[in-house]
Amino acid sequence: MLNFDFQNPTRIVFGKDTIARLADLVPASARVLILYGGQSAERTGTLAEVRAALGERTVFEFGGIEPNPAFETLLRAVELVRAEQIDFLLAVGGGSVIDGSKFVAAAVPFAGDPWQILESFGGVVHSALPLGVVLTLPATGSEMNHTSVVTRKATHTKAFFASPFVAPQFSILDPVKTYTLPARQLGNGVVDAFVHVVEQYLTYPVDARVQDRFAEGLLQTLIEIGPKVVHEPADYDSRANLMWAATMALNGLIATGVPQDWATHIIGHELTALHGMDHGQTLAVLLPSMLELRREAKREKLLQYAARVWQITAGSDDERIDLAIARTRAFFESLGVATRLSAYGVSADAVDALVAAVEAHGMVSLGEHGDVTPALTRKVYEASL
Ligand code: NZQ
Ligand code: ZN
Repeated sequence: MLNFDFQNPTRIVFGKDTIARLADLVPASARVLILYGGQSAERTGTLAEVRAALGERTVFEFGGIEPNPAFETLLRAVELVRAEQIDFLLAVGGGSVIDGSKFVAAAVPFAGDPWQILESFGGVVHSALPLGVVLTLPATGSEMNHTSVVTRKATHTKAFFASPFVAPQFSILDPVKTYTLPARQLGNGVVDAFVHVVEQYLTYPVDARVQDRFAEGLLQTLIEIGPKVVHEPADYDSRANLMWAATMALNGLIATGVPQDWATHIIGHELTALHGMDHGQTLAVLLPSMLELRREAKREKLLQYAARVWQITAGSDDERIDLAIARTRAFFESLGVATRLSAYGVSADAVDALVAAVEAHGMVSLGEHGDVTPALTRKVYEASL
């Protein structure tokens, strides 16, 4: 097992009717900004519940944070916070609203050009406003981690930063709030959580038994509940299990002491930036090809994945790996998430620009061995067509 230093400061308040807890979680004297996305939080009544729970506090609102939150939009929120001397941010939404709020939290006290926050991967962040979260979409784990992904629309750049200063102080996870999600977002959410686990688990063995078995437990849970969540009417238990699995998939716990990959995520960002694909869709398309093309370096963990996650024990090593990758693809398809670029209207003539963008963003030695070069990235895009 590798050395590690793990701290996660986010308080999780989980369960039915927990939004009312904002009354005691947000400081009574706070000047609060509620940040939210398009129409869903208003339409579903979640914003009304939030407003009621905040009671007599001074509350401002900033709506319109789009999926894949735009740097340009978030700068307007930064201006509002500064002008109104707001001192507490409350994100109400999914990964995009939470990530956008993390950026605002870091940008408000930052004196330089705010894009430096992303260019430095968070290195220039030395303080941030306090942030609380009401989660409405289980997928990204952003509610319990210190990462944020922001898109600069003007240049089609989807970039990320991480800083312990932007970890939410608390997150409210009420599974009932997921009942209004459309099947597309549920499918994306299951895929995203699944691939988060894979990026931290499916590398090479370091005898990290606790982390491996936690990871396998999360993957098996997602396989069990995924199709039910997407295709059947909402029920509390499967939504509760999805919500907690997605949070646990990317809160730092299973990353402790193990190598990490993240190549699928990083090259997926270009598909969102250039072709508008949902984050979960990019992962469903790229992961099977990525595993196929990197099967030698990942051989031991692929065999472990086949045996422990998919119960594949018969056949040669290569046959078991083939079947595990095929099952992974079929699982994503069973969630209604297509696994070929052609299904999203992206064809071979798009590949040059995608590879050029990966290179321009300096993402030239990715993966647990740093061997995912632009040449290999090209092969992954091509194999995913
Ligand atoms: O905008 P509104 O109207 O609110 O609708 C949203 C949005 O259109 C809707 N929605 C959210 N909750 C709902 C709901 N609709 C009905 N009922 C509800 N309860 O869902 C749509 C998608 O929302 P979004 O927040 O964009 O989705 P998600 O949570 O999948 O977040 C994706 C973003 O997170 C980033 C992605 O790159 C992407 O930008 N990620 C963040 C990570 C992190 N911070 O650690 C890690 C991930 O790998 C990921 O990169
Ligand atoms: Zn993700």
